Amino acid sequence: MDFGLKDQVVMVTGGGSGIGAEAARSFAAQGAKVAIVDRNLAGANAVREEIAATGGLAAAYETNVTDEVSVQETVDAIQRDLGPVSVLVNNAGFTRDMKIVRMSLADWSSVVDVILKGAFLCSRAVIPAMVEAGYGRIVNISSRAHLGNPGQANYSSAKAGIIGFTRALSLEYGKNNITVNAVAPGIINTAAVTNLPHYGKIKEAAEKTTPIPRIGEPEDVANAIVFLGSRLSSYITGETLHVTGGRY
Ligand SMILES: NC(=O)c1ccc[n+]([C@@H]2O[C@H](COP(=O)([O-])OP(=O)(O)OC[C@H]3O[C@@H](n4cnc5c(N)ncnc54)[C@H](O)[C@@H]3O)[C@@H](O)[C@H]2O)c1
Repeated sequence: MDFGLKDQVVMVTGGGSGIGAEAARSFAAQGAKVAIVDRNLAGANAVREEIAATGGLAAAYETNVTDEVSVQETVDAIQRDLGPVSVLVNNAGFTRDMKIVRMSLADWSSVVDVILKGAFLCSRAVIPAMVEAGYGRIVNISSRAHLGNPGQANYSSAKAGIIGFTRALSLEYGKNNITVNAVAPGIINTAAVTNLPHYGKIKEAAEKTTPIPRIGEPEDVANAIVFLGSRLSSYITGETLHVTGGRY
């Protein structure tokens, strides 16, 4: 099956770890030129080296997706180094969980900003080149938490917001052959989850309540991201694909 990704320039935010790192490796395996964008340059460089060791092409960029200048400088550098971005994966994100009455404004803003402002700034920076090329793919990483999780008012709000953002952009840019979709993972085996103090309980509950009775792997999510980021998904836009093992 030809994903049509050879020599496409793919920008993955939060590509230095977990789901983003696996998506970067998977795009590179399809022959894409991958820009690994992360505020953690060491992580981004490690993924770049792994990709290079397997004969792929990638570059690493230290970027804070919530910073307008940092994002624009990164997109300009990617254009210089690899070419104009044709696939954007808005994946950078994190949680700051607690009940709302104990949630500080910083806990709220940092989570909402990295997810929503980050996706806004990165999308706005790459869309002009996609319009010019008459082709583009944007894949936004939501979460099953968009349905609402206790202790995650900040994260659930942002992950629901990213679905509205996805739909809005899909309506604005369908005529330009730019598709915009979201992927909503369930519980996935990344450091963000395995480092949680109650990880054991989360894993046990997931195994009991998930129709496919296991925690998801980064590869499960990367496969969905690569499909929606490829030419194979050309008549799919504004959708949210749940990668949750059937758990809602
Ligand atoms: N792991 C899960 O169970 C799960 C489930 C649903 C959704 N998600 C979502 O998937 C995405 C990736 O999660 P993960 O589990 O791989 O997490 P992770 O912590 O392994 O990776 C996230 C990456 O984002 C980077 N990042 C954070 N803030 C940034 C910023 N301001 N600018 C640039 N980079 C930044 C981090 O440095 C890190 O490398 C997130 O959006 C997360 O909300 C994860």
